[in-house]
Amino acid sequence: VDLEPAATVTTGSASYPIYVKPGVLADLGRLLREAKTGRRAVVISDDAVASAHGAATRTSLEDSGFMVEILTIPQGEAAKSLATVENIYDRLVELAVERSDPLVALGGGVVGDVAGFVAATYLRGVPLVHVPTSLLAMADAAIGGKTGVNHPRGKNLIGSFYQPLMVLEDPTLLATLDDRAYREGFAELIKHGLIADVGLLNYLEKESPALLQRDGGALTEALAASARVKAAIVSADERESDRRTWLNYGHTVAHAIEAASGYETFLHGEAVTIGMTAAAAISHKLGMLDESAVRRQRHLIDHYGLPTAAEGLPRVRILEAMRLDKKRANDQQRWVLLEALASPVIRADVPDRVVAEALASVGIA
Ligand SMILES: NC(=O)c1ccc[n+]([C@@H]2O[C@H](COP(=O)([O-])OP(=O)(O)OC[C@H]3O[C@@H](n4cnc5c(N)ncnc54)[C@H](O)[C@@H]3O)[C@@H](O)[C@H]2O)c1
Ligand SMILES: [Zn+2]
Repeated sequence: VDLEPAATVTTGSASYPIYVKPGVLADLGRLLREAKTGRRAVVISDDAVASAHGAATRTSLEDSGFMVEILTIPQGEAAKSLATVENIYDRLVELAVERSDPLVALGGGVVGDVAGFVAATYLRGVPLVHVPTSLLAMADAAIGGKTGVNHPRGKNLIGSFYQPLMVLEDPTLLATLDDRAYREGFAELIKHGLIADVGLLNYLEKESPALLQRDGGALTEALAASARVKAAIVSADERESDRRTWLNYGHTVAHAIEAASGYETFLHGEAVTIGMTAAAAISHKLGMLDESAVRRQRHLIDHYGLPTAAEGLPRVRILEAMRLDKKRANDQQRWVLLEALASPVIRADVPDRVVAEALASVGIA
């Protein structure tokens, strides 16, 4: 069976395919055997995902002759810690997992980041396959090679870049995801359309009923287009700078909303759609993005039931969180804005007054 990659990531350190196909999980064992890794596969997952999809993953691997171990971590962001990583190292040592034995990250972004960091560091690096199971992880986290965990003082402070052997995106796995988490993932798909692909925007508009019903064919189209956008950007620029910064569209305000609200009120994707609404407002106020494009972005976000405003967050708290974020990055405030749809620019000269007006326009006053 020939399987064509939807996209390929090529960086200075590696080149690997992203496959997007309903049922592609069944091909995992065969693809891994063709990659000539060791014969002991360790699947890292979380409790919820392992109970929903662990058995199918095991079958795919065992059918191709792998010995399979499934290690689970607790569900949720709190498990994205060095303590979790240490527990996994302990298990890998006990199991005498060797340098050529592959790790399979089966889960959302938390599992992907933890398993990726373990794969990057255990025995100075073992083969890794990402099998993202949340829409957010398919659209974003599984592509690009960023791995890492949180420190009690801040998110994603510890990590490394580590590219997988391949990424397998099976849209049928999304059937078990809860509704709010499912819709959240559209934030990053919409973002990829807004920064780089008007065709993807058209598709997300036209096919929203099928996509909201988790139709496998429609998801395959949308995820493949989205993967091409992210793959092209991270291929051009593995490390954070220039083009990779475009992926932060909406994220300046989103990160501040998440920090100021204690990471509880808003899911990441929800904070991003509010942040993109603010970024579009700034773009318009600076004479770039026109009124109809701003409206189009808002309608698209509305369509997927995602927010375009936050209530009850004082502006001073948001501005303070943005200042801290900027200080940590040792940088000036660099805004990703849109000159037009699919035409991003980075601007460091946005006046405070314009930022304040844009925040007010998304309910942050
Ligand atoms: N490495 C990167 O480039 C990158 C990019 C974006 C986000 N991230 C990280 O990703 C994380 C967020 O990812 P997420 O939203 O996937 O969170 P997550 O991994 O916590 O998954 C969300 C929830 O959905 C459940 N779940 C996932 N797939 C499921 C399925 N198919 N069926 C049933 N339940 C399922 C999980 O158990 C979890 O409770 C954050 O830690 C973020 O920092 C990393
Ligand atoms: Zn994001």
